[in-house]
Amino acid sequence: MSDVAPGTRITMGLWRRFRRAWLKVRFPRASWGRGCDVRSGLRLHLSPRGELRVGPQVVLDRDATIECAGKLDIGARTIFGHHCTLAAKESVHIGEDCLLAEMVSIRDHDHRFDDFDIPIRDQGATCAPVWIGNNVWLAARVVVVKGITIGDGAIIGAGAVVTKNIPAGAIAVGVPARVVKMRPGAPG
Ligand SMILES: CC(C)(COP(=O)(O)OP(=O)(O)OC[C@H]1O[C@@H](n2cnc3c(N)ncnc32)[C@H](O)[C@@H]1OP(=O)(O)O)[C@@H](O)C(=O)NCCC(=O)NCCS
Repeated sequence: MSDVAPGTRITMGLWRRFRRAWLKVRFPRASWGRGCDVRSGLRLHLSPRGELRVGPQVVLDRDATIECAGKLDIGARTIFGHHCTLAAKESVHIGEDCLLAEMVSIRDHDHRFDDFDIPIRDQGATCAPVWIGNNVWLAARVVVVKGITIGDGAIIGAGAVVTKNIPAGAIAVGVPARVVKMRPGAPG
């Protein structure tokens, strides 16, 4: 049983619906799944060729930043803590039933820096898709860099920087993230 009073629950439900309706009007090219709950302070930059799909019942806590110039896909029932950053120039996929704690950052690109004589900001970007499976838990302040795959059911410890692929069911921690053990019952 929920300990929220029925009146409060109804008000919250109406507020969620209102925000979703507002997002549909404000960003008509994005897809907002039924029952998704996008809290205040969202900064969304959706470029003309950007494709954003937010699955049903996704919760995006307050002050999220989304930069979508490519494809960004969030699976059903995935939950984000506050101040998360998602940036897709090419492709970022986040599966279903994932838990992303506060201040998680996921980007599919880096700045180029090949030429020492040109400011880094003027050298463009290098991209590689990020793919995060289902039921993955990224703990607080995890950073995922470009080109990473994280398998279903994996757990990444707080503060980790993920620079190599993480297999399904693994628990990885640290900077750079290293697998320290497998979850009981994990495949392989
Ligand atoms: C990743 C985590 C779940 C692992 O929990 P666990 O299975 O109980 O792991 P253990 O405590 O057995 O740790 C295994 C090893 O990893 C280390 N470790 C655990 N978490 C770590 C972290 N976040 N960063 C660096 N090392 C870590 C431990 O010190 C231990 O090392 P040792 O074997 O040398 O002693 C947990 O440590 C964690 O990071 N929780 C996140 C909390 C959080 O952000 N919550 C947000 C709520 S959504």
